[in-house]
Amino acid sequence: MSGKLASSYASWQKLQQLYDAEHSKIILKDLFAKDPKRFEKYSKTYQSTSGPDATLLVDLSKNLITEPVLATLLDLVREAKVEEYRDKMFAGEHINTSEDRAVLHVALRNFNDFNISEAGADEVSGVLAHMKEFSDAVRSGEWKGYTGKAINAIVNIGIGGSDLGPVMVTEALKPYAKRDLKAHFVSNIDGTHIAETLRECDPETTLFIIASKTFTTQETITNAESARSWFLQTAGDKKHVAKHFVALSTNTKAVTAFGISESNMFQFWDWVGGRYSLWSAIGLSIALVIGYENFEALLKGAHSMDKHFKETPLEENLPVLMAAIGIWYNDFYGAQTLALLPYDQYLHKFADYFQQGDMESNGKSVTKDGERVKYQTGPIIWGASGTNGQHSFYQLVHQGTKLIPADFIAPATTHNPIENSKHHRILLSNFFAQPEALAFGKTEEEVKKELGSGASEVLVKSKVFEGNRPSTSIMFPLLTPATLGALIALYEHKIFVQGVVWGINSFDQMGVELGKVLAKNILAQLEKPDDVKGHDSSTTGLIHYYQKFRKE
Ligand code: F6P
Repeated sequence: MSGKLASSYASWQKLQQLYDAEHSKIILKDLFAKDPKRFEKYSKTYQSTSGPDATLLVDLSKNLITEPVLATLLDLVREAKVEEYRDKMFAGEHINTSEDRAVLHVALRNFNDFNISEAGADEVSGVLAHMKEFSDAVRSGEWKGYTGKAINAIVNIGIGGSDLGPVMVTEALKPYAKRDLKAHFVSNIDGTHIAETLRECDPETTLFIIASKTFTTQETITNAESARSWFLQTAGDKKHVAKHFVALSTNTKAVTAFGISESNMFQFWDWVGGRYSLWSAIGLSIALVIGYENFEALLKGAHSMDKHFKETPLEENLPVLMAAIGIWYNDFYGAQTLALLPYDQYLHKFADYFQQGDMESNGKSVTKDGERVKYQTGPIIWGASGTNGQHSFYQLVHQGTKLIPADFIAPATTHNPIENSKHHRILLSNFFAQPEALAFGKTEEEVKKELGSGASEVLVKSKVFEGNRPSTSIMFPLLTPATLGALIALYEHKIFVQGVVWGINSFDQMGVELGKVLAKNILAQLEKPDDVKGHDSSTTGLIHYYQKFRKE
């Protein structure tokens, strides 16, 4: 994160020349035909080196890369000093320069391997011990509500990073969940979200977890206040709040002002970015749902990937390779997006999670030195779990005019083998077929042969698949906590590498501020039409329409 323009690197210019001279010759069909060992050459196996066993197969062979392209992409990574900045991150240097903060989600899952001296890093194990003690007590029924009943529902109230990680992980690791502890997640300021959730809860047996790094986020505090009022309507006495409300935050003052005692607060630190916080106290709902031991396995899985990222040469370094290939598409092929396509129902929130993880990190257009970039930065992240996407947007991915690189993700084994049925085999046959169809397509000749001589030219053309559409396939034996930890950390570090190459600060999020400020101003004007001042005619017109029809 030098703040240098990526386009100023010699390797960037070489990549541009390579693209101009070679890209029309980079045809997957030909590359595979020419090299029967392409899969062996470009697929990598990751094996955890500490903690619970976790392995990943990352097949990069269906990407539009050749040896010179990959070598030059890795030159770019070197020229941008990614290794140096990676080491600065692990050492706790303040690489989040605009906020003058360290970036230490790796310290949350460290288990004593890395020497990190930043203030607070030595408090991590204490908070984890508190999380264990608390989650064990709630799960065992030892923690009682104000009428002496055990807790049977938790409601995590948070938004952005204080919501998406816990939601994604608790969904992904449902096979490990305590099924009689219902987990709800409320994020939206739309009162419907909290109202519908509370309809399913009993104040005597519900635990509210107020998750907010700053404890000032309007959505979270408003929802938390509504939850507290709802609770007190039944419980009456404010002293009962202590048994039903806990806070996950860095802001002790605001937490205690809200009425939650410090003993019910789980601390974290300003060096934990919201979108990197599921490993911190923000993961309390995860520990409650899947149990502390499984939460720890998740952390350990991520930690082992951290070591891989820190210690593996660039040529074999998975986050680096995935980042480099992403830059190739984003900045030279002009691809606008990256599709995340897990063939695992449990990962149905994976793309949602990395929408924030990637887009809030790398959605920047100014370098760390304040210069406007002259190239594309973070891709648009989107996706859905397979095979649902096949019946909605895959048409465009296969035959549309846009290049859409995609990551296909699947477990070899399912947690839910259905007796006398082939669910998982059918699922995986699709997981194998889609990247194959994208890469190799179907020629006009093949279509003609299939349709026979009488077929119209128009029909033939409409059935042609151009192919040469790139993808990465990631497989693992089973979606376990450690495997998920490794997978999330893989993407986190990929995002880091790309940010360093682009010279941007991946760890602030100034772009979410303007809308917040304007909304505050507008909120104060919503009462009367005469109060609506200082806006363009469109905004004024919309507010007036609301004022005419509102019934609140
Ligand atoms: O969307 C902006 C943001 O600051 C995110 O980065 C963060 O995850 C989210 O709001 C919630 O913030 P907090 O945890 O402070 O409530």
